[in-house]
Amino acid sequence: MNKATNIFFVGKGGVGKSTSAALTSVFLAQKGFQVLIISLDPAHNQSDIFEKNLSDKPFQIAPNLLAIEIDQEFWIKQYLKDIHNQINKTYSYLTAFNLDKYFSVIKHSPCLEEYALILAFEQIRKDFSQLDYLIFDMPPTALALKFFNLPSLSMIWIEHLLALREEIIQKRELITKIKILKKEFERDKVLKKIEEQRKQYQTLKDTFEDRELTQISLVLNPDKLSHAESIRILKALQNIHISLYRTINNKMQIDSSCTDFNEVFADIPMLNFPYSETPLIGIDNLQRFLKMNDDQFEKQLKKELP
Ligand SMILES: Nc1ncnc2c1ncn2[C@@H]1O[C@H](COP(=O)(O)OP(=O)(O)OP(=O)(O)O)[C@@H](O)[C@H]1O
Ligand SMILES: [Mg+2]
Repeated sequence: MNKATNIFFVGKGGVGKSTSAALTSVFLAQKGFQVLIISLDPAHNQSDIFEKNLSDKPFQIAPNLLAIEIDQEFWIKQYLKDIHNQINKTYSYLTAFNLDKYFSVIKHSPCLEEYALILAFEQIRKDFSQLDYLIFDMPPTALALKFFNLPSLSMIWIEHLLALREEIIQKRELITKIKILKKEFERDKVLKKIEEQRKQYQTLKDTFEDRELTQISLVLNPDKLSHAESIRILKALQNIHISLYRTINNKMQIDSSCTDFNEVFADIPMLNFPYSETPLIGIDNLQRFLKMNDDQFEKQLKKELP
C-alpha cells in the first residue's frame, strides 16, 4: 500500500513556499521519518536553499532526507511520446490520414505543463511509496491550481467522452451487425482507453481530497496582497473539494497584524514562522531556525510512527 503522505506548499510568489518546504522536510527527517523533498516548480530553488546541485535523480541531503528537482521538459516530452504512441496504436486503421497533423496540434496545447507535473507526481508516488513524507515545493499559484484542477476537469471531459463513445458503438453495431450470436464483440479499444483514464484521474482526485494522504500548506506573509491571493487559493481549492490542512504565517514580525486574515482562516490550524535576520540558506541555518521555532513544528507536524 502507498502510505506516503504528500505535503504541498502553495502560496503567492515569494512568500516562502520553498523555504517552508525545506524547513518542514528537515524537521521531519530529524524526527526519524523517511522524507523526500520534490521541487515541482520549474524555477527550482531547492538547490540554492540546500546549497547542493540537485537534479531529477534523488540526492541525499541529510540522514533520512532525499531531494529531487523535477525536469519539466523531460515530462512534457514523455507525455507527448505517450500520446503519439497511443494515437498510432488506437487509430492504426486510419493511417491513410495524416495523424501527425493532429499530433502537432497537441504539441501546442496549453495544458502541457500541468499534465507533465501530474505525470511526474504519479511517478514519484510510485517510486517512493515506501517513504513517510513526500514534500512538494509548488510552482506559482496559477500553475499550482491548474495542477490540482486537472483531475476534476479531466473527469468532466471523460464522462462526456464515455457517453459519446457508447453512442458511437451502439450505432456501429447496428449498422455493421457485428453482434453475431455467440461471438463476443471485442471491447472497443477507444472506450477501454477512456475508462482507464477515468480510473487514473479518479485515483488522483481521491488522493488530493483525502486528508490522510494529502496535506495542503498555504504559506502567506502578513501583507494584504498575499492575504488576498490566499483567500482566492482557499476558494479555488474548495471548489474542487480540496481543503487546506494548515496555513503558515511566514516572515512574521513583532508588529505584524493579520486580523482580517485570522477570520477567514479561523478553522484552519496555523503555524507562525518569524522573520529571520539570518538568511535561511544551508542546512545549518535551517536547523538553527528549526531549533528556535521547535514549538511551532511540534504542535503541527507530528505523525505517530507506525
Ligand atoms: N521566515 C523568513 N524570514 C526571512 N526570510 C525568509 C523567510 N522565509 C523565506 N525568506 C526569504 O524570502 C525569499 C523568498 O522565499 P522562497 O524562495 O522560499 O519563497 P517562494 O514562495 O518559494 O518564492 P517563489 O514564488 O519565487 O517560488 C527568499 O529570499 C527566502 O530566503
Ligand atoms: Mg519557490
